[in-house]
Amino acid sequence: PAPGWTVATDVVVVGSGVAGLTTALRLRAAGLKVLVVTKAMLDDGSTRWAQGGIAAALGEGDTPQQHLDDTLVAGAGLCDAEAVRVLVTEGPAAVRRLIETGAAFDKDPEGEILLTREGGHHRRRIAHAGGDATGAEISRALVDAVRLDDGIELIEHALVLDLLTDVKGRTAGLTLHVMGEGQRDGVGAVHARAVVLATGGMGQVFSATTNPAVSTGDGVALALRAGAEVTDLEFVQFHPTVLWLGPDVEGQQPLISEAVRGEGAYLVDADEVRFMVGQHELAELAPRDIVAKGITRRMQETGAEHMYLDGRHFGEQMWEERFPTILASCRSHGIDPVTELIPVAPAAHYASGGVRTDLRGHTSVSGLYACGEVACTGVHGANRLASNSLLEGLVFAERIAADILDRDAAGKLTPRHEDTALEVQRVPLLASEARADIQRLMTRGVGVLRSAASMAEAAEGLAGLAAAHPDDTNKGESPQVETWEATNLHLVATALTAAARLREETRGCHWREDFPDRDDLRWNTHLISRQQDGVL
Ligand code: SIN
Repeated sequence: PAPGWTVATDVVVVGSGVAGLTTALRLRAAGLKVLVVTKAMLDDGSTRWAQGGIAAALGEGDTPQQHLDDTLVAGAGLCDAEAVRVLVTEGPAAVRRLIETGAAFDKDPEGEILLTREGGHHRRRIAHAGGDATGAEISRALVDAVRLDDGIELIEHALVLDLLTDVKGRTAGLTLHVMGEGQRDGVGAVHARAVVLATGGMGQVFSATTNPAVSTGDGVALALRAGAEVTDLEFVQFHPTVLWLGPDVEGQQPLISEAVRGEGAYLVDADEVRFMVGQHELAELAPRDIVAKGITRRMQETGAEHMYLDGRHFGEQMWEERFPTILASCRSHGIDPVTELIPVAPAAHYASGGVRTDLRGHTSVSGLYACGEVACTGVHGANRLASNSLLEGLVFAERIAADILDRDAAGKLTPRHEDTALEVQRVPLLASEARADIQRLMTRGVGVLRSAASMAEAAEGLAGLAAAHPDDTNKGESPQVETWEATNLHLVATALTAAARLREETRGCHWREDFPDRDDLRWNTHLISRQQDGVL
């Protein structure tokens, strides 16, 4: 079908977290016409859920080199050292510019930014806001700045569908499904000279995740359908300490920030034994994959469904002042961390891989950029270091804006295509009921612990889902958003499983029971996925 409506802009930014809004603000400041589209409301993405903070070498005695060293260790041999160098050297100034934009970080009485520790960091390096509400403050500051700028156009409640390209294969815009926005209701097209994907992650591929419901891998799915290269998908990070609410609880789960361990909370089993001591020199503050494995192992050894976090020694005042969000969240679920142990278990948290980019955020498709969790810039390798993600969004957003401006000045952006007749692609869709099946298959087969057998079962199940849940939307009617989401989840789950099956080793957050060791001879390399003519 032809799109029901069209709009034109210079650059369309898809997503409204730290990566998307920073890109939009920088482009707008340089005079380009920018449209931000977002799937729910402007502040509904993952950024606002970030608790611990943003890592940068801001403290006395800390240096970008030390931040680089910790990042490389966590990344288990697969970081792109140049990308990490960019991140850690440009990071401190990018954080200062974020402060100029209006984000208020917690400070000591002398006005110095307070810094905490998290897993894998050998120093206090994490700036935070509102105690444990860092993402909410960053999101507030950026949303305020964007709303104040009349020059940035917004479309909320808009699910991105597919990339539009011109006859030369250059990005020419995208299609969107907009829900209930007056004249722009239903499927439409945005003509643009560059597209920036900043759609966040894909945590909803699993049953239990810290990600909000909107994190359905839409950007990676779009990129795959557009023929872009996607890489490192097998490296899904499971956050070690997510509030355990019961065996059957699904969807977004409350995070208990690493910063709680950074300030001295312990991980203990049901007998109150600190099982991380002796497993790593940093004990509870080892890199995230090691702590998630330590917890999972102890759960297996003791037959428990969860472990515990002990922060009772903090006392009420510290809980209230330093971790008000977590305190309220625990109490709302009937657990009082001041007097009780907090039940915790790992849950899907962050996609270390994503759409492959260069150091200026450019993907393998001309005019298509990716930034933030949807992207794989090379800074995370096989396991992201805690609190490097907000920083990556900031630093690479600025680089993308600079690249678009340079290409514009050099006449290298796609020319305008407003008069081109554009067809909306129609790919085979899955009915929304497939979502729960995808999540169960992925959690059972491709979760924290993986094996050839468990993943073969997941792959077989995924392959059968298209037949089990075909989309039965009448021809001529627009499919519902839930249908597109199930279709996107299915595509990214299939690509993730294929990569995880191929990587026959254990590295970073990819943990194979049948290949328990890291194998640098065979696997010190990246797996790249690409779709051609509908085949992965
Ligand atoms: C946390 O606060 O533990 C999350 C930080 C992160 O994911 O980087």
